[in-house]
Amino acid sequence: MMRSGCRMSLVMWIRVWVMVAAVVDVLGGGCLIAAGMEVGCGVRFKDEVASFKVAIFADLHYGENAWDEWGPRQDVNSTAVQSFLLDHERPDFVVYLGDLITANNLPCHDAVLHWFQAVGPAVDRKIPFASVFGNHDDASFEWDPHSGVGPDEPLQTTSRTELMDFDMSLPSSYSSSGPKTLLPSVSNFFVPIASSDGTRIVAIMYFLDSGGGSMAEFISADQIAWFTTTASKFNSDASIPELVFWHIPSIAYTRSGPKPNQPIEAPCVGSINDESIAPQETEWGIMNVLTNRSSVKVLGTNSIFWSISCCCSYLFGSIFFCRCSCIQL
Ligand SMILES: *[C@@H]1O[C@H](CO)[C@@H](O)[C@H](O)[C@H]1NC(C)=O
Ligand SMILES: *[C@@H]1O[C@H](CO)[C@@H](O)[C@H](O)[C@H]1NC(C)=O
Repeated sequence: MMRSGCRMSLVMWIRVWVMVAAVVDVLGGGCLIAAGMEVGCGVRFKDEVASFKVAIFADLHYGENAWDEWGPRQDVNSTAVQSFLLDHERPDFVVYLGDLITANNLPCHDAVLHWFQAVGPAVDRKIPFASVFGNHDDASFEWDPHSGVGPDEPLQTTSRTELMDFDMSLPSSYSSSGPKTLLPSVSNFFVPIASSDGTRIVAIMYFLDSGGGSMAEFISADQIAWFTTTASKFNSDASIPELVFWHIPSIAYTRSGPKPNQPIEAPCVGSINDESIAPQETEWGIMNVLTNRSSVKVLGTNSIFWSISCCCSYLFGSIFFCRCSCIQL
């Protein structure tokens, strides 16, 4: 099974390049400079529509148990759920919020195949999207007797950089590998959202790599400095709303988040309180920076397994805290 998985890559790449040719126009249009950034050439509000809808998919875990029937069937089901939600909600942007794949179940150097399956529903619909890394996306293979590979065979994990290069090659991807100075963390970037006429930035989405897998689980002081510098440069008077996304909740969430089985109050809905929170290993102050910034309106982190969750504003003052759902600006 694994061997045939490795051989499939050529077919998948051809499909990717055919799509690149087909979708170039979608992202076209003139660019203007607003708040020191090029806008209007990328993501923007639709004409005559007062809202901008962001769909968040976290913990999709494509490629999990790739060697048995259950794993691939789960992936088929995940694609069906994504397709249903995207067709019904018609979001303007999709955030793939980490753990797109279960790399610890993938012994071949071909995780991009599963990555491509994960983001496929957005790519197929030409919906702009961005991806951030979770702790499983470049995790080392954990040998399993059913995996089809011998315990001593050489294994090749696909690195964060390789996955991101692949993601960035997809036609509607707005992902970026971020500043090299922040390596080994990779998915640190921002995406401005412009007004429908493309003349103003009306919101900025920030994406941070909360680590895990090949690296420690935390948002470093360097990442915080990058966020602070970038945010003050492009939004010095904090007049533009900011949405921040990363995969692993900070330790701060375990103190203020809802405990398992505690009731949640309106307007919160969903299953945000179903399970306890598994936070980052250490906290270097990103929460202090965000809570201190009045322009940060939404913070999205990873989901809880098996649940469709919700947004709640009661965790951190005025910040709207989201896990795995749809948000509307
Ligand atoms: C996939 O979805 C079908 C139909 O809802 C369900 O019966 C099945 O259990 C699901 N498979 C897995 C592996 O979750
Ligand atoms: C919070 O804001 C105050 C006033 O703007 C500033 O002095 C302080 O350094 C900020 N704290 C953090 C953690 O950014």
